[in-house]
Amino acid sequence: MTDITNQPKGSGTASFIWQFLRNPKSVGAIAPSGKVLAGRMAAGLGAASRVLELGGGTGTLTQAIVAAGVPQPNLTVIEMNPDFIRSLTARFPNAHVVDHSAFEIDTLPADASNLDAVISGLPLVNMSPDNHRAIMRGSFNRLGDGGFYRQFTYKPKCPISQTVLNEFGLTARYEGMALRNAPPAFVYRIERA
Ligand SMILES: C[S@@+](CC[C@H](N)C(=O)[O-])C[C@H]1O[C@@H](n2cnc3c(N)ncnc32)[C@H](O)[C@@H]1O
Repeated sequence: MTDITNQPKGSGTASFIWQFLRNPKSVGAIAPSGKVLAGRMAAGLGAASRVLELGGGTGTLTQAIVAAGVPQPNLTVIEMNPDFIRSLTARFPNAHVVDHSAFEIDTLPADASNLDAVISGLPLVNMSPDNHRAIMRGSFNRLGDGGFYRQFTYKPKCPISQTVLNEFGLTARYEGMALRNAPPAFVYRIERA
């Protein structure tokens, strides 16, 4: 049978679905990201990249970021779900896995600064404009010159409104889609205008 979700091995699908059933709004997806989406989210990253991942879940994007060549010590992953934090810490023992809210990026330890990329799997459509402001403010305070924020979403529209982008002097562009994903996903890149 074809696996339309395109899940990588060890992606923790059963645990993810269980957590979704318990916390649908916060988990925000029925299944972890598939391999095609994870590859698109990690595109262009490499051995010199310093990366912050928001909402690591069971680690499918984390795995793609590491597979792109980013050394684990250059990677900070924030997550709030205790089960996901345990599994991320076990799978990526040399990355900085932090029990932390994406609404409080400014209070992260200083090693997550001068970043090249923020890679986000957060369910932004379930969050308020003020939550979006906190995430944009925190991310762009931590990103160096030329750094970018990358987000996937399940609608063909950037989940951060033009109003919020304008407030922070940001611009969004569509980077591509992953049809072989459950559900199909769209990738947006946000950077300084
Ligand atoms: C759609 S899942 C994505 C998981 C994983 N990145 C993937 O692509 O399969 C969203 C994740 O964001 C986490 N999350 C939700 N709100 C958060 C917040 N305020 N701060 C940090 N993580 C959060 C959830 O616990 C969940 O793991």
